[in-house]
Amino acid sequence: MTDDSRFILDPATADLHGDNERLREAGPLVPVTAEGVRAWAATDYATLMAVLTHPDMSRELHHWADRHTLPPGTAIDRIVTDTSMLNAEGERHRRLRMPLTAAFSQRRLNGLRPRIEELTARLIDRLASLPADAPVDLRLEFAYPLPREVISELIGIPAAHQDDLHRLSDAIAQVGGLEDSPALRRELRELLDRIIEERRGTPGEDLITDLFELHEKDGGRLSEDELFATIELLFIAGHVTTVNLITNAIRVLLSEPDQLELLRSGRCPYSAAVEETLRWDSPIAYFPMRYAVRDVEIDGVRLRGGEPVLACFASAGRDPGQYERAEVFDITRPQVTHLAFGHGPHFCLGAPLARLEGEIALKALFTAFPAMKPVALPEELPPLDTLLGNSVRTMPVILGP
Ligand code: HEM
Repeated sequence: MTDDSRFILDPATADLHGDNERLREAGPLVPVTAEGVRAWAATDYATLMAVLTHPDMSRELHHWADRHTLPPGTAIDRIVTDTSMLNAEGERHRRLRMPLTAAFSQRRLNGLRPRIEELTARLIDRLASLPADAPVDLRLEFAYPLPREVISELIGIPAAHQDDLHRLSDAIAQVGGLEDSPALRRELRELLDRIIEERRGTPGEDLITDLFELHEKDGGRLSEDELFATIELLFIAGHVTTVNLITNAIRVLLSEPDQLELLRSGRCPYSAAVEETLRWDSPIAYFPMRYAVRDVEIDGVRLRGGEPVLACFASAGRDPGQYERAEVFDITRPQVTHLAFGHGPHFCLGAPLARLEGEIALKALFTAFPAMKPVALPEELPPLDTLLGNSVRTMPVILGP
């Protein structure tokens, strides 16, 4: 990679989709600098798919030649320094991912539906008790707490520890500002250690119990570090992404009354709005990273062994080479496919859960508040200040009578 004509990805950009259009115009694989890291960016659908599935592209960090250049405390640093399944391949990846597949299966999730509906109804009741004519931030009061409560229950976090855990995982996932990541991780680990220790005596119907048994009893198939990394990954991967999905769907539906009417009248299912939001406004903007195991050619671009590639999920969703009228939000598209949950062996484990939560949340919200109005135009809302996430910091509405 040469250094001269490098695009700089700006985490605070107010025009992510405009930036992505310029990236795609520059090519399918474009040299970029992101948070001080030099990488290739896979910008269109076909190229991103090729990178996600190429046998010579690996998530294992030891393949990254310039890993020492990664600035600590950045969003990329938070993702790539863990020992989780996200950065594992082959047998080790299977060993880490397999124990979780049953917990996230469609069958298990169908059983979870009534509980998610109940948690949603409780949040809707709380919203309904607020003044109907004053602005309410739906990101904070609705999109944020729902996935947090669901993932806490699924993992088995006791109520007494939930607030502390959420504060820490939010800081690590950088919902707030930049803080000292190693110190936060230490604090999070101490808290999880305490929770796991408490569970040792009182096993439950939850993931902590399942994982702990694998660590403790099943021939130590999961090391202590791996157990910790798995729980941390679920907490962080399973929360902010779903908050972004629900927030982005609310934002676009409130600005597209015709589309909203298709949902309210029952002519289109809410699941279609979830899928189109995932395509059109992917909850993840850019995601680190895959590394070329050896010299490899993708779409006519030669990558040298050890070079990293960043996945541009939001850009692939608007690729005009893949979608007709790619920039138009249209929930009537037949069978829309997208890469918002990735593809291949690392395909998002929580995709069925995120889809279920999104569908339940949107249906309940738009049914309960038929006169809801946005307070600002979509483009006036402040974007998240992070490379990874694509959403807005607040989603103020008037709920109405
Ligand atoms: C992996 C997106 C929700 C858990 C991924 C990947 C993407 C993604 C793109 C693949 C990354 C890659 O291959 O580089 C999303 C989006 C979500 C969401 C957009 C919400 C709308 C969830 C939820 C959970 C979850 C709710 C769990 C509760 C995971 C895990 C992985 C993963 C564990 C790693 C899988 C592996 O490496 O094998 N997610 N995710 N995600 N996601 Fe999600």
